[in-house]
Amino acid sequence: MIECVGLSFSFGRSAILSNLELTVYDGERIVVMGRSGAGKTTLLRLLAGLVAPSGGTIRVGGEAASAAGSVSMAPSRRDIGFVFQAGALWPHMTVEQNVLYGLADLPRPEARLRMTEALVACKVVELALRLPGQLSGGEQRRVGLARAIAPHPRHLLMDEPLTNLDTDLRLELLQLMCEIVRSRGTALVYVTHDEDEASAVGGRQMRLENGHLVESGTA
Ligand SMILES: Nc1ncnc2c1ncn2[C@@H]1O[C@H](COP(=O)(O)OP(=O)(O)O)[C@@H](O)[C@H]1O
Ligand SMILES: [Mg+2]
Repeated sequence: MIECVGLSFSFGRSAILSNLELTVYDGERIVVMGRSGAGKTTLLRLLAGLVAPSGGTIRVGGEAASAAGSVSMAPSRRDIGFVFQAGALWPHMTVEQNVLYGLADLPRPEARLRMTEALVACKVVELALRLPGQLSGGEQRRVGLARAIAPHPRHLLMDEPLTNLDTDLRLELLQLMCEIVRSRGTALVYVTHDEDEASAVGGRQMRLENGHLVESGTA
């Protein structure tokens, strides 16, 4: 579970998030929509512990994780996987190395097992030895997903993971993502500006507006 209370974030003088409240329960799906610049990426970065809030608190698994100006629980300790907007793979590392990177805490044989399992689940096992530059856009997204799920995180954050892909591929990847998340009971926070994607993901539907989250129902 991730709990945000009175969460605020500003860049200089401009307030991006103000007094935002959000609880992500174990195993649930939440969709966050909102116009470009609304602060969706900023919210995910705060949840992941990549940045500190300007005000308010974040608790992860019942423990204090972030407070004004401080990140007390490191991103790697939060049990949170992150699928970034543009894939964001390390360009100089092979697919295998990209996925193993997040498994460095495990003994080597177990890390390789998890890596293979994630590549199989995301249907990219045959691309294991390629560099990101040798992959199509869709393949890169699959690898980004594999990297995020490989450590079996309790929570998964996805930041517009399907933008710039054609419709068929988007549908296929969306199904794959939802299947993995459901079968593992992973909590999902899914950011998109696409209405169709939002209803396909389902769960609690929210909009980020004027720094607040407004819940618009369940799909
Ligand atoms: N490093 C930064 N410095 C100053 N402003 C930023 C920075 N990063 C993002 N912003 C601003 O914060 C706001 C929210 O950005 P972001 O969270 O990326 O929005 P979204 O993901 O909803 O499009 C935008 O107005 C953006 O211009
Ligand atoms: Mg964004």
